[in-house]
Amino acid sequence: VSLKESFADNFLIGAAVNDALISLKDSLGANLIKKEYNTITPENSMKWMYMEPQQGVFEFETADRYIDFSTKNNIAFIGHNLVWHSQLAEWVEKITSAEELNASLKNHVQTIAARYTGKIHGWDVVNEALNEDGTLRNSLFLEKLGPDYLVNSFKWAEEADPKAELYYNDYNMTHVEKRKGAIELVKMLQKEGVKIDGIGMQAHWGLEDPTLEQIETSILAYADLGIKVMMTELDITVLPNPWDLEGAEVSQNFEGSEQMNPYSDQLPDSVATQLAKRYKDIFELFVKHSDKISRVTFWGINDGHSWLNNWPIEKRTNYPLLFDRSYQPKAAYHSVLEIKQDS
Ligand code: G3I
Repeated sequence: VSLKESFADNFLIGAAVNDALISLKDSLGANLIKKEYNTITPENSMKWMYMEPQQGVFEFETADRYIDFSTKNNIAFIGHNLVWHSQLAEWVEKITSAEELNASLKNHVQTIAARYTGKIHGWDVVNEALNEDGTLRNSLFLEKLGPDYLVNSFKWAEEADPKAELYYNDYNMTHVEKRKGAIELVKMLQKEGVKIDGIGMQAHWGLEDPTLEQIETSILAYADLGIKVMMTELDITVLPNPWDLEGAEVSQNFEGSEQMNPYSDQLPDSVATQLAKRYKDIFELFVKHSDKISRVTFWGINDGHSWLNNWPIEKRTNYPLLFDRSYQPKAAYHSVLEIKQDS
């Protein structure tokens, strides 16, 4: 039994993928995708800096290959993302006039969304537009275009691809203030008559934080908006966070420190068990609310490829996913499947 079969009655099960998979350099990974998942999200290659590296010059080749791969294998494709302040192209950051920025944003959203009309299950239209206190992030877009950029981005995406689902996606979506901000943002879009189909909780979580209660409250609060709730970038870090160290300077260089990279050889059984329990708990919660949750996507397939080996400190050995560095299923994989076997 696979993940996608086990949760077929509940939600789509996905993973973020990198270019090695679709260029067939990673056949193990590609086969695992076909077996276990029914939706994929490109981890990096559809971001602005790759899609439109020069003004008006679009690079579609890689994205086209992703779409072909998912169409051929009947996999729902999630576009990530159309509008984000990070991984922008340099030329965008240099724009000084509001008119030019607005026209460039419009062209970017419309050109890409239009190209893949009918082939995309959903778009992360806007990514990470909120500050931690729930106010709008002071990005280039907000600074020059005001909150209209949010409304317009969704409108342009809808015009270009009326059938794709359109999402707002962000992290720390279980935090009280940010949650309030996200709810306000969605209500603002709804009030403007803009189509928004769902909200993405990225779900970059830890072994204990956020609590199940916080996750549940958030799922219910977002579902109350009348839109779909998705876990879009799920992973569970097992490593200490430098910011949690007493007196630690955020800028301090912890690279190579054993304290910050305690499992460089292997993950102790006790932690593997803790991770498996954590995954089981959160999946039980997802299943409980599967009338509200439409998709759960992991941010990667195997531990070796996870961005968490390089963040917030580079070159660590993290174990955040369901498959190990050789693509073997971990205890966490089995514990997630067990939920459905028990029921
Ligand atoms: O491709 C270059 C390579 O040529 C170069 O040698 C290497 C040296 O650093 O960098 C490579 O680019 C890296 C890229 O990932 C591809 O691996 C970038 O440095 C690195 O910054 C980039 O990180 C990505 C990050 O977004 C960028 O902000 C992560 O892989 C990706 O997982 C992460 O994904 C984000 C979501 O899009 C939004 N939500 C948060 C999530 C995690 O940060």
